[in-house]
Amino acid sequence: MAAASFVLVLVFFLLLSFPDIDNPRLASALDATAADDDGPYRSERFSIVSYESLWHDYSPPAPPPSPPDPPSSSCEGDLGGTGDFNTLCELHTSVQLSCDFFAKAHGSFVLYPDVVLSCSVAGCSIVVNLTGEIRIGRNAKIAAGTVRMQAGNMSVAEGAAIDTVALAGDPPPQTSGVPTGTNGDGGGHGGRGASCVVKEGQTQEDSWGGDAYSWSTLMKPDSYGSKGSSTSMEKDYGGGGGGRVYLVVNDVIEVNGSITADGGEGGSLGGGGSGGSIFISAAKMKGTGKISASGGSGLAGGGGGRVSIAVFSRHDDPHVFVHGGRSFGCPENAGAAGTLYDAVPKSLIVSNHNLSTQTDTLLLEFPYQPLWTNVFIRNCAKVAVPLLWSRVQVQGQLSLLSGGMLAFGLTRYPYSEFELMAEELLMSDSIIKLHQQLAY
Ligand SMILES: *[C@@H]1O[C@H](CO)[C@@H](O)[C@H](O)[C@H]1NC(C)=O
Ligand SMILES: *[C@@H]1O[C@H](CO)[C@@H](O)[C@H](O)[C@H]1NC(C)=O
Ligand SMILES: *[C@@H]1O[C@H](CO)[C@@H](O)[C@H](O)[C@H]1NC(C)=O
Ligand SMILES: *[C@@H]1O[C@H](CO)[C@@H](O)[C@H](O)[C@H]1NC(C)=O
Repeated sequence: MAAASFVLVLVFFLLLSFPDIDNPRLASALDATAADDDGPYRSERFSIVSYESLWHDYSPPAPPPSPPDPPSSSCEGDLGGTGDFNTLCELHTSVQLSCDFFAKAHGSFVLYPDVVLSCSVAGCSIVVNLTGEIRIGRNAKIAAGTVRMQAGNMSVAEGAAIDTVALAGDPPPQTSGVPTGTNGDGGGHGGRGASCVVKEGQTQEDSWGGDAYSWSTLMKPDSYGSKGSSTSMEKDYGGGGGGRVYLVVNDVIEVNGSITADGGEGGSLGGGGSGGSIFISAAKMKGTGKISASGGSGLAGGGGGRVSIAVFSRHDDPHVFVHGGRSFGCPENAGAAGTLYDAVPKSLIVSNHNLSTQTDTLLLEFPYQPLWTNVFIRNCAKVAVPLLWSRVQVQGQLSLLSGGMLAFGLTRYPYSEFELMAEELLMSDSIIKLHQQLAY
């Protein structure tokens, strides 16, 4: 470990409660890292409006009972394939759909190499629910706003893709992932979108684009990402939000290609869209392909989306990304990282892939029953626990690594209290920051 890195390991039970620091050992450990006391200036500017906005549930309301299935589409009639979904449907030529597609049956579905099945209308869905196999051949692609599939086995060959990039429909109601104004800010979802415009009297840290949402469903994410904003009233340059991929595979999923729900690019005149959602459940996963719900780049980058992987046995390691998008207008402040939940070890990973940022990924309430095992904050992820009274409790380890930052409390509110409970706190080249008026 590099000489400059700082490792703090507290075994057993760690409880920090502020402002009453009564444990001198902890107090001095925190002295070293508790950064800027923001002083009374901040607290004056604290407004009840922004305070209340923190209490919004960042999650969509409970979904309505699912409507009955639409009639199942046919392989030959609707796709021009051969065979049928109850035995084997084979697609040899590309098809462009203009509306939702739904197939549910007991057979298998094979896309031949280079075949593209797409519906490139924002929010358009392709749902294929089979008991057999789904095979996506070399360089073939399924593209839509939502791709929802169930199968006995599934494979995505090299160069092949399930692609929902920038094809989001509407984000959940009562969320504010889409930034307002014409600053070219990034959309938010798993992390906040970046903003390169620092409002008067604020700092880069409390200027962000679209906000985060759907925290409470991060273990089974199913929300669309949000659009970035434009710099023009006339023309919309913002990148689209990332779509949704939901895959349930009873046996083996093999991913040599890519599964993506990234936000769209905004270029130099618009903010990047935020990443969407990817949920993958399978008994086994193979392949070293790419799984990504990252924010799109733009004038200001979009926030990362949400990915959850529930796989019991992993043979290779696919590369999973949920980082924020790059900000061309302020390269030091990329979009905030999204969330990756690894369901079998019950671990939450927040990584910004070493893209430096001043924009927050928010951690809200942690589940108690059961507790999560580990939380990893790393590779330049900047995480905030913004509630007035909050408790971050995990059963195992809380790790802050490679430029990770964890901030507790409300930036503009002088009184907040938090508890951090973990068996182990591991810090390396990272910071814990308390927005407090500490009385030393
Ligand atoms: C597939 O259909 C089954 C049976 O109706 C249903 O329980 C399941 O949720 C469907 N899968 C997906 C991914 O929609
Ligand atoms: C899935 O693959 C396994 C072998 O990898 C095979 O035994 C099983 O029959 C397959 N299931 C289906 C539904 O194709
Ligand atoms: C995935 O890659 C592995 C290793 O290159 C190969 O053995 C396997 O057949 C590939 N699977 C698919 C579905 O392309
Ligand atoms: C990020 O930086 C760390 C420490 O410098 C390094 O070990 C890691 O490989 C980097 N990761 C990426 C994805 O660049």
